[in-house]
Amino acid sequence: MVKVNDNYLKLPGSYLFSTIGKKVAAFSTEHPDKKIIRLGIGDVTQPLAPAIITALHGAVDEMADAATFHGYAPDLGYEFLRNAIAKNDYQDRGCDIAADEIFVSDGAKCDSSNIQEIFSLDNKIAVCDPVYPVYVDSNVMAGRTGTWDPKTETWSDVIYMPCTAENDFAPELPKETPDLIYLCFPNNPTGSTIKKDQLQVWVDYANKVGAIIIYDAAYEAYISEENVPHSIYECEGARTCAIELRSFSKNAGFTGVRLGFTVIPKELKAGETNLHPLWARRHGTKYNGAPYIVQRAGEAVYSPEGKAQLREQVAYYMNNAKVIYEGLKSAGYTVSGGVNAPYIWLKTPDKMTSWEFFDYLLEKANVVGTPGSGFGPSGEGYFRLTAFGSYDNTVEAIERMKAL
Ligand code: MLT
Repeated sequence: MVKVNDNYLKLPGSYLFSTIGKKVAAFSTEHPDKKIIRLGIGDVTQPLAPAIITALHGAVDEMADAATFHGYAPDLGYEFLRNAIAKNDYQDRGCDIAADEIFVSDGAKCDSSNIQEIFSLDNKIAVCDPVYPVYVDSNVMAGRTGTWDPKTETWSDVIYMPCTAENDFAPELPKETPDLIYLCFPNNPTGSTIKKDQLQVWVDYANKVGAIIIYDAAYEAYISEENVPHSIYECEGARTCAIELRSFSKNAGFTGVRLGFTVIPKELKAGETNLHPLWARRHGTKYNGAPYIVQRAGEAVYSPEGKAQLREQVAYYMNNAKVIYEGLKSAGYTVSGGVNAPYIWLKTPDKMTSWEFFDYLLEKANVVGTPGSGFGPSGEGYFRLTAFGSYDNTVEAIERMKAL
């Protein structure tokens, strides 16, 4: 008889943002008159920049003519986009990354969940706690995480690296040696960052113990401070221990357009095996490439006009971050993040649990955020707000929270 992959049955509850979506939908049905402000999921609200729209229109017109029509995209992405990425995101920043080390995809969420497939099930993963749930859940589905303990809300075979106020939300090297280390900076959900010398410690450690770092840099466009690395390849030795994931969702508003990429340096190995050809094989077999029109839109992100327009868009969201940060701070909340990242991480007031505060805020202020405990046990007692709302909604949400 056919059997399911019973690793799926081990997953507790539904995906965090689906749970939130359902709760908000139920509240909204019960209270159709309430204007709900959503600062939960990190989804953008500003329209695509004009340079991107122009590129999209141009590419759509090309698809209307047999002479310029495009069918399947090359497995690993169009050269024009891979060259633009390699130059702008890496070479211009002094990182030694070539275009053929870039694998274009439909976003960092898929890449961050799929990348574990090329590694053995025996590998042990280490994650920050709190963490973007996709890294853990995808390893659960693969059968790499052992058993779930509902009391501690942890998996038996996962190494958790607590990121708390005590360590400034930066993970410490784990006592037990991991094989795969997931790091995300600027961090989702805490909005924290680490300096280049701190990241160098991780690179040196991974090279020493033979681990691989899966580095999610989806929020790098929000870095405003000096000495905060935009890429792990700014660190010496990262080519032999790190895979980097990037997204066009947050820097260019592509959440509904879908585009991202993964970088795997040619010399990166797991034991004796090169990983670049493995991921190329996986990509070629399971993926037919991001659409041509979307890759043209991605190319426009790197045009001079695109860059200027997106700098403004990022500044718009970071102004929201400031409104949230300063507003809540003045209201007596303990807040962090929001300086190099579009997320503000706050301590729930009056010892409320994260979900209690979620319900309270939804009920009393009609504002939606994300409960910190949804990202892991060390997130309990915390709450995340995103800066991706509109300015007016952000101001109103903070006014409502201050009035509570
Ligand atoms: C988040 O809210 O954590 C992100 O939007 C989720 C994502 O990027 O997939």
